[in-house]
Amino acid sequence: MSAGGSSVTAPQGPRHIAIIMDGNGRWAARRGLPPSSGHKAGVERIRDLIEACKSRRIEVLTLFAFSSENWQRPPKEVELLMSLFHSYLRREARKMKEQGVRLRVIGRRDRFSARLQRAIAEAEEMTADGAAGTLVIAADYGGQWDIAEAARSLAAEVAAGERDIDSIDEMALSERVQLADLPPVDLLIRSSGEQRISNFILWQAAYSEFYFTETLWPDFGEQELDAALAAYRKRDRRYGGRDEGGRSEGGLEAQA
Ligand code: IPE
Ligand code: IPE
Ligand code: MG
Repeated sequence: MSAGGSSVTAPQGPRHIAIIMDGNGRWAARRGLPPSSGHKAGVERIRDLIEACKSRRIEVLTLFAFSSENWQRPPKEVELLMSLFHSYLRREARKMKEQGVRLRVIGRRDRFSARLQRAIAEAEEMTADGAAGTLVIAADYGGQWDIAEAARSLAAEVAAGERDIDSIDEMALSERVQLADLPPVDLLIRSSGEQRISNFILWQAAYSEFYFTETLWPDFGEQELDAALAAYRKRDRRYGGRDEGGRSEGGLEAQA
């Protein structure tokens, strides 16, 4: 990885990339095909992307696969997405194990079929000791749901007398939301030209760098990833501090 040699402010890494995989429907429509063809083509991009991230020493890749709101799609499309998710887990878990990749699924699980819930649990179990990298799949995930769940669990502890209400602060929430145990999301990519977050990681993206590309998800390959990484390395991550003359290292402590 290009760790050394860069300027003081150029960000290292990134360690954690999250992607909103958007544009399957438009990719298919441009070919006169139904959305299902776009979703199938989209799934095919994931395997290479995992390898590409691994070889670039990216520790965590988080993929937004199905949002809390995607249940509103036509039933046939939802059904297809569920069956693609199931077959993906069945097919790829073994491969991930061989690659040393640990899989984690975030989001609600109770609205999935028992069969899909089982496949998720088995894939997570099978890959649990993978140490070469982590793949997080966000499915039936919503950023607002995530924050509400964290708030609810803290409130339950207060109600049970296990926690003081004054202990509920940014740190407490940060420790309770999904991905809390992983490195922060450095780079958030969205394909297909839309420039919105669509209820993805709201809390966790507080200081993520955003990268938008017109490329539709089924066309997203290694060159796109490298373009995003190149853009990321040019960013100046200030976290609200002041970047005096391009040197912000230790800025916060220096100002304290
Ligand atoms: C993203 O592709 C995949 C999911 C939301 C599951 P879309 O299906 O949203 O593609 P567009 O936005 O219609 O092109
Ligand atoms: C966001 O894409 C969800 C995923 C990519 C899984 P959508 O296509 O559902 O988002 P909107 O409707 O354009 O905001
Ligand atoms: Mg879309």
